Formats: sequence, structure tokens, C-alpha cells
Amino acid sequence: MDIEPEVLALVQHAKRVTILTGAGVSAESGVATFRSYKEETKESLWSQYDPQKMASIDGFLENPNRVWQWYQWRRSELKTKKPNEAHKAIAKWQESKTLSSKNQNVTLITQNVDGLHQAGGSKDVIELHGNIWRNHCLQCLAEYNGEVDGVDLEEREEVIECPECGGQIRPSVVWFGEALPEQAWRDAESASYSCDLFLSVGTSSQVYPAAGLAALAKSQGATVIEINPEPTKSSVVDYCIAGKAGEVLSILNT
Ligand code: OAD
Repeated sequence: MDIEPEVLALVQHAKRVTILTGAGVSAESGVATFRSYKEETKESLWSQYDPQKMASIDGFLENPNRVWQWYQWRRSELKTKKPNEAHKAIAKWQESKTLSSKNQNVTLITQNVDGLHQAGGSKDVIELHGNIWRNHCLQCLAEYNGEVDGVDLEEREEVIECPECGGQIRPSVVWFGEALPEQAWRDAESASYSCDLFLSVGTSSQVYPAAGLAALAKSQGATVIEINPEPTKSSVVDYCIAGKAGEVLSILNT
């Protein structure tokens, strides 16, 4: 695919680049997106499951085991997935700090909880929606991974109680209606406020506050470029590269 020379030049000459990724970045790894049908993933999650039931505190309190089992299923699916060219190209870009001869500052913010950016080599990732591989107690917030009271959490089919306070242990992902992790949000705002290029990759830009970061960047003079095979037509976007994240980022990175 061809990328307009004007867009290439903008990417190469930017000094501070902030990249926001969404589920589309993992689509080429075979991970289902939330909202759109995609050839790689066949179905989107929210076309099959009700987000209010699976991704809200009310849904969890109504039926904790149903939610726990859904996340256990998603974890088992994700275990088979590997980082794709998009994850690797971003990691390489962060590592080399440049796509051209100039030094660039590259900050990565993700809405994804799958850990594939880290698996693809990214060391610094601002995770806005948490991480599916971690767990914590709903009540006392103690973090749990691996074994709890001699039981491997990975094997649990039902919600387990916190040995400290008796609260329920839940996956450490942000659900609808919940606040984002404070430090991650502060870092994301600051990286968006101070960049001159904001890249929105593989996100439908429908979920706030993450979706507002592009507008924040633009309000401070940044150029906003979207990479998405189905352009969102957001008024904040200056240029859209209508292609798959893996393909486009690999081209940008050569
Ligand atoms: P969505 O599923 O809403 O959007 C995925 C976007 O990726 C769509 O715009 C697709 O067109 C695009 N896409 C698909 N394949 C792609 C590819 N190969 N390359 C580039 N783009 C591709 O996912 P998010 O925007 O990440 O939050 O959703 C945001 C949040 O809503 C999620 O973090 C999750 C969800 O509900 C919570 O659960 C709190």
C-alpha cells in the first residue's frame, strides 16, 4: 500500500510522538475486537456478549462467576496469541527513538489489556484499561497472581475470596463506569498534551476518556493521524491511513 509522502514526512519529522492503540492493533494476532467485524477475528466481542453483564461492576456483582469465567476464557484464548508486526514495529520505534535521522520521543498508550505490546518488546506501556493477566481484591485492592491459598488462580472456574479480607478477587481490568488508573491517566494526558504527532491506531475512538486524548493533542497543535482499515471519520483526525496496523507500521518503520 502507498502512504502519501506528506503523511510520511509528518511522521518522520515529528519530535514527540504519542501513539494510542486499541483492539485493532491486536486483530492481526487473531484477537477479537470489541465492536467491529474483522476478517482475522471473525466476530467482535460486543456482538456476542453484553458489555453491561461482562464488563461492569453491576454485572460482576449480579453474577461474579459468570464474569470470572468469561475472563478465564479470554485469558485461555489470549494465551495462544502472539504479538504481530504492529506490536513489533511500535517496540522497535520506541527502542530506536526514530523513524528517520532525527531523535524522536515516542510514548505508547494502550487501551488493550492483553499484554501483547510488552510481549512484542515494548518496555514502557501506559495501560489505560488495566491488564487482564493481573487480579485484585474488589474490597481491599490487594493484588493477586499465581497461587492464592494453594490454589492456582489460572485453574479457578469460580471466583475466589481474598485471604486478607474475604472480598472477591476480580481481574484488574477497567470496567465501564470505573475510573482509569490515576497515574496511567496522568501520564497519558501529559504525553498527549506535549506531543506534536498523535497516532491513533486500531481504535474505534468511541470509549472515553481515552477517545478524548486525540482532541487534547490537537488542541495543543499536534497533528492527528489515524491508522485504521475502517476510518472512524472523527473530526479530530487530520489524516487517515486506511490500512491494517501491522502493514502500515511496518512500512513506516522501513
Ligand atoms: P474497538 O473494537 O471499539 O475498535 C477496534 C478498531 O480497530 C475498529 O475501528 C476497527 O476498524 C479497527 N481495526 C480492526 N482491525 C484492524 C487492523 N488490523 N489494524 C488497525 N485497525 C483495525 O476497540 P477499542 O477502540 O480498543 O474497554 O475499544 C475501546 C474500549 O472499548 C476497549 O478498551 C474496551 C472496549 O469496551 C473496556 O472494556 C473498558
